Amino acid sequence: MKYDVVIIGSGPGGYVAAIRCSQLGMKTAIIEKYNTLGGTCLNVGCIPSKALLDSSEHYHNAAHKFADHGIQLKSLKADLKQMIARKDSVVSQTCDGVAYLMKKNKIDVHTGHGTFVSANKLEVAGKDSTTELEFDKAIIATGSKPITPAAFNYDKKRVITSTEALNITSIPKKMVIIGAGVIGLELGSVYARIGTEVEVIEFQDRILTGMDKDVSKDLQRSLKKIGIIFHLGHAVTQVKGTAKNATIEFKKKDTEEIQKITADYCLIAIGRHAYTENLGLETIGVDTDDRGRIIVNDHLQTSHSNIYAIGDVIKGAMLAHKAEEEGIFVAEHMSGHKPHLDYNLIPGVVYTWPELSVVGRTEEQLKEAGIEYKVGKFPMKALGRARASTDTEGLIKVIAHKDTDEILGVHMVGARAADLIMEAVALMEFRASAEDMARISHPHPTYTEAIKEAALGATGNRYIHI
Ligand code: FAD
Ligand code: NAI
Repeated sequence: MKYDVVIIGSGPGGYVAAIRCSQLGMKTAIIEKYNTLGGTCLNVGCIPSKALLDSSEHYHNAAHKFADHGIQLKSLKADLKQMIARKDSVVSQTCDGVAYLMKKNKIDVHTGHGTFVSANKLEVAGKDSTTELEFDKAIIATGSKPITPAAFNYDKKRVITSTEALNITSIPKKMVIIGAGVIGLELGSVYARIGTEVEVIEFQDRILTGMDKDVSKDLQRSLKKIGIIFHLGHAVTQVKGTAKNATIEFKKKDTEEIQKITADYCLIAIGRHAYTENLGLETIGVDTDDRGRIIVNDHLQTSHSNIYAIGDVIKGAMLAHKAEEEGIFVAEHMSGHKPHLDYNLIPGVVYTWPELSVVGRTEEQLKEAGIEYKVGKFPMKALGRARASTDTEGLIKVIAHKDTDEILGVHMVGARAADLIMEAVALMEFRASAEDMARISHPHPTYTEAIKEAALGATGNRYIHI
């Protein structure tokens, strides 16, 4: 079979690229080794984790917030089995949606493992047979897998990654999480909210390193309130699982004394690595960097100009929407368009409660780049809307250029921060100033007023709301 373009991997990078290629008139095929489409994000990532975050948040609110609102409940119980069943149904509906989109856009789906045999030919090893596909162009969108060092003895039973943590059906008494990154904090929140004792061991001195210091500190305060215990500045040296539990050995940085914790589960959440296993990259001479990521140029082309790579398998943030934008970018580049992608304006969200969201640069990055800036901050507790709903935790921080007033970064912790960040992204795309942001009318009473207030602060003006 011969195609204009063949895409390997059906995650948010691959399936979005396939749709755009087809829309642009290319005869398109997608290869996926699993039976369901959607990749990490839909099957074992974004969607299932958000489904469990929502269920556990409802439970937590019912247990801890409803009474304050005058809602009395007797016999409240978290039914993890039902939460998992609902999550599975959300996942299956979402994956079916991708299959429908492939059909609708006349994209051929080949189920099996794809391996390059030349720069114009792929083999797809299916369950019963192998198919050969010829192509003019190809897009590698093979994603990533969790990092599981040998010393952590990952056994998928007691020593687990996010994939298994999304399928536990009885509430664990205790869970130790290695890594206070996005996965550790999101899944740690799920379990802490339904009553699991959660301890997080993190090598760095703060959670979410790389994000703005103010928001990372603020979020840690909120997470402590739901009972998560943090061991910052500690490194895990070894993990051993048995049939019933896992023992984690760790030590404070620069000391030798080993501490031990035994828990029902140990969740390894120390990052993910690019996945290129058995892809045939060596056969066709496509290079990877020291972290195994496929090397691409500014047009996302590999060393073969007809073979592109996108998403988690290349450099940059491992985010679904980054993979999607790259999918659209390469489809349009192949068709002779001149697409544009500003990596600085790809937002990041952590779906804890309160939510954390960021776009643009942090104070630390601006200092390092020698760019002078000014900052405006507004605490959620000063906002009428936040008090009305008892969601007063968090803050919004707007960073603007000292002389031009252009918005350089916006960092938030608070209710609905995941959605609020889009105001900042949109304004920054149009290179708005903090004054522009402050002068736009924001509906009252809404959480968006905190953005206006923080922007006013950055322009040197005083708060106008209480
Ligand atoms: P993937 O989604 O990993 O898809 C790659 C696909 O390629 C897989 O289906 C794989 O089976 C297939 N494949 C690989 N090799 C081959 C081969 N040789 N032949 C055939 N098929 C192959 N990001 C967000 O933006 N928001 C979130 O809320 C979020 N939550 C997450 C929660 C968790 C628990 C995890 C683990 C990740 C989360 N992410 C989130 C990250 C997000 O899932 C990834 O950034 C995104 O899935 C990357 O998309 P991709 O298309 O590059 O690869
Ligand atoms: P991460 O890179 O976000 O965090 C890993 C953390 O583990 C780091 O803070 C690191 O210092 C720490 N660590 C590493 N080795 C350690 C050790 N030996 N002992 C103690 N701590 C150690 O990685 P994570 O959380 O696994 O997530 C992987 C990717 O998935 C991220 O890049 C993220 O972008 C993506 N993701 C995105 C989500 C979102 O957008 N909401 C949700 C979940 C995942």
